[in-house]
Amino acid sequence: MAAVQDALLVAGGLGTRMLPTSASVPKEALPLVDVPALVHLAREAVAAGVQRLHIISSPRKDMNALLGDHAWLQEKRPDLDPQLLSPFSDVEVHIHIQHEPLGLGNAIESALGDIEGPFLVLLGDNILLDQHSSPQEFTPSNASKKLVENFEKNGLPCVGLLAVQPEEVSNYGVVRKEGEKILEICEKPTQEQAPSNLVLCGRYLFTSDAKNLLRHYDVETYGELQSIALQQHWMKNDGLLGVELTNFQWYDSGKPLPWLQAQVDHALRRNDLSTAFRAWLRERLDQD
Ligand code: UTP
Repeated sequence: MAAVQDALLVAGGLGTRMLPTSASVPKEALPLVDVPALVHLAREAVAAGVQRLHIISSPRKDMNALLGDHAWLQEKRPDLDPQLLSPFSDVEVHIHIQHEPLGLGNAIESALGDIEGPFLVLLGDNILLDQHSSPQEFTPSNASKKLVENFEKNGLPCVGLLAVQPEEVSNYGVVRKEGEKILEICEKPTQEQAPSNLVLCGRYLFTSDAKNLLRHYDVETYGELQSIALQQHWMKNDGLLGVELTNFQWYDSGKPLPWLQAQVDHALRRNDLSTAFRAWLRERLDQD
């Protein structure tokens, strides 16, 4: 049995940067070409060994269609990997409602009543891929698995890290670290202030003491920085480790331009699409 049995897929935000679409379709349900973000995340978490998925949703979001079992469509599309039509059928699914979008710490808190041990957290609009498969031969991402392997080795909470271009650091939580040990997280620093170009990329593995710590670092005092306060606590005590996810592509469906770039980048890397898409794109760009 894997060391981590629970994963939180965090999807309780309003998605205002993806309006008007997000008013009717949760941004976490938007596809990367033809596979919804949340399906990518669910299969990534299951590949990491978890048995229970906790979906954090908001009072007005309708996740029913996304979470449903669509196995009946298999006869229409026998070519598809069956797991993509029933992506939640081999795990327990718990839905938790975050009543107000008060940030990541508060979203996590809304599920912790149902969780005993260490748990993964995956931001619902962040896909991390190390392989670019078609839905016919689907291969889940190894991102969460890498965090679980790190936890099995070290027994400490850890976070996924990705290197970004220096001019992009001001959008992220940027870390200073020594070896694997994180010494500092700077929230959205300027390029000059940033201690590195390694940033938090929406994958976390937290230990069970998070429940008590989040009560201490409460949302009333820390607001949206509650989850950073939690991570700073670990940094100052037993330690928080960084897992560098090298050779992963990071796709964000939370804003129109990154969402569009994700579609193009993934399509260019996918065996079933790249030749035709590349040829079309070249021709299209030549017209400008
Ligand atoms: P974002 O900050 O990108 O999402 O959070 P948002 O708040 O929905 O976006 P905007 O600013 O309104 O456009 C990253 C992930 O964390 C979830 C979001 O649903 C998203 O998948 N989230 C964010 C929560 O679950 N609860 C929150 O309070 C905030």
